[in-house]
Amino acid sequence: MDIKIFQSAQEATEEAFRLLAAAKEDGATTFGLATGSSPEGLYELLRASDLDFTDAYALNLDEYRGLPADHEQSYAYFMQDKLFKAKPFKETFIPNGMAEDPEEEVARYDQVIKNHPIDFQILGIGPNGHIGFNEPGTSFEVTTHLTDLAPATIQANQRFFESEADVPKQAYTMGIASILNSKQIVLMAFGEAKAQAVKGMIEGSVTEALPASVLQTHENVTVLLDQDSASLLS
Ligand code: F6R
Repeated sequence: MDIKIFQSAQEATEEAFRLLAAAKEDGATTFGLATGSSPEGLYELLRASDLDFTDAYALNLDEYRGLPADHEQSYAYFMQDKLFKAKPFKETFIPNGMAEDPEEEVARYDQVIKNHPIDFQILGIGPNGHIGFNEPGTSFEVTTHLTDLAPATIQANQRFFESEADVPKQAYTMGIASILNSKQIVLMAFGEAKAQAVKGMIEGSVTEALPASVLQTHENVTVLLDQDSASLLS
């Protein structure tokens, strides 16, 4: 793991942009994308850049079950709003939160990932150490699946909804096994709320109790931190 600690989230975000632009320059065409607050600044930089993604593919990590793509809190909506409407891709993929048959949807998305192996994957990390929506206890072997969100995740994501009751309780997510197949991974974590998870990810043992710790086993991972998220590192 290459750990880089910056004075601010903004500086770390600029490094994420540089890494993505360099990967693209080197021929990366398939980008695994995350939603949430961590990559928002990166998407802002991409929107303002002259990078062209019209030959590139985007595969998102996850989507809430039960939210249609036009719901303002769906991840499909987030991606349109923060990136795709300003920076069109050749094709974009995300699990369908409204799929009638979860088994079919999971198989469909696994096939999408198989058809489009990811060159460059952006990740955030949950305060409980999740990546994608692979919550603590999830097997490292799984690919795409429907998961019950951990109470801590529902609580953390409540800020985007009117009340905790409105937060979906399940989500589709790429599995750890799929994430580990990406050629290059860049994880961004900012703020004190992430400090404990960041410490476990970097200094703890590799354990399904802290899903992000599995990234220690991948050969090309860069972790971009600000002072607060790095504050517990020894
Ligand atoms: C989002 C995702 C999640 C987030 C994580 C951190 O697509 O996969 O794992 O990256 O919950 O969220 P933020 O960045 O909002 O703190």
